[in-house]
Amino acid sequence: MALKRNKITVVGAGFVGATAAHWAASNQLGDVVIVDIIEGMPQGKALDLRQAAPVVGFDSNVIGTNDYKDTADSDIVIITAGVPRKPGMSRDDLLAINTKIVKDVVTNIVKYSPNAILIIVSNPLDAMTYVAHKVSGFPANRVIGMAGVLDAARFRAFIAMELDVSVEDVNAFVLGGHGDTMVPLPRYSTVAGIPLPDLLPADKIEAMCKRTANGGAEIVNLLKTGSAFFAPSASAVEMVQSILLDKKRILPCCVYCDKEYGAGGYFVGVPAKLGKNGVEQIIEIKLTPEEKVAFDKSVAAVKELVKALPL
Ligand code: APR
Repeated sequence: MALKRNKITVVGAGFVGATAAHWAASNQLGDVVIVDIIEGMPQGKALDLRQAAPVVGFDSNVIGTNDYKDTADSDIVIITAGVPRKPGMSRDDLLAINTKIVKDVVTNIVKYSPNAILIIVSNPLDAMTYVAHKVSGFPANRVIGMAGVLDAARFRAFIAMELDVSVEDVNAFVLGGHGDTMVPLPRYSTVAGIPLPDLLPADKIEAMCKRTANGGAEIVNLLKTGSAFFAPSASAVEMVQSILLDKKRILPCCVYCDKEYGAGGYFVGVPAKLGKNGVEQIIEIKLTPEEKVAFDKSVAAVKELVKALPL
């Protein structure tokens, strides 16, 4: 019996893309195709990764290419193509340039993989996910932005560092857009099931929420020449795993919300169930009045950005 392996395409062989390919291949989630416009670069990184396989012990095939034909019939496509920000830039400053890139990438991907599920990583995330949905013509359940897993992971890391506990016992909840207006929710963030407000004073929690919202910029300022890539790529691959293995994990993702959370037809960060069909359910929770104000402000920021899209 022929066993069909999953096919994972990663577009953009830069920091985020190459690291995503590494996580996906080393976790044996499927065969991996890395695409970039730069000649030789995706081929070189793919070959290097294949040569890591005997040491690490994985059998995923990894190829690099500049030709979208090689991506044909992908089950899932991670889109990381685009320009990262530099110190002093917000994600929104990347809007014009990355819209052009994401449009080009999605048009090519759709031609060869009409049934794929798209995971968008390029920034500004909520707007780029909107672009990918529009350009692909795919149903909304097959277009998902990676932001919430990363934002929650940052919050989880800060909680674990503050309390000196294992990250494995820490869960965190972040809603809204992937920008300065994101909404970390401490009352739904827990350590071994214990809500965070029962473990730490309000000012400490407030400081961690701020650091989470500013988590990307903190790294940009340290790196000076690019943005974060280990945690963003690991987060995208966690979503890929939930989909390809039909795990049905509940992960905070940037998904299409119309009536849900009163978002009115935009892609914003909310908890969603990810399985073999992509987004299988959006989990709605009742927000407190203050949380609702913060969430609406975040959605308003996403709407402004979408209005400014050069589509
Ligand atoms: N098609 C394919 N690849 C492209 C295209 C295109 N039209 N345009 C650019 N690329 C490639 C670049 O050649 C580069 O190799 O995208 C890659 C981006 O890699 P990096 O510059 O290393 O950027 P990275 O840190 O990976 O960030 C990529 O993810 O987190 C977001 O904000 C970040 O938007 C940025 C994206």
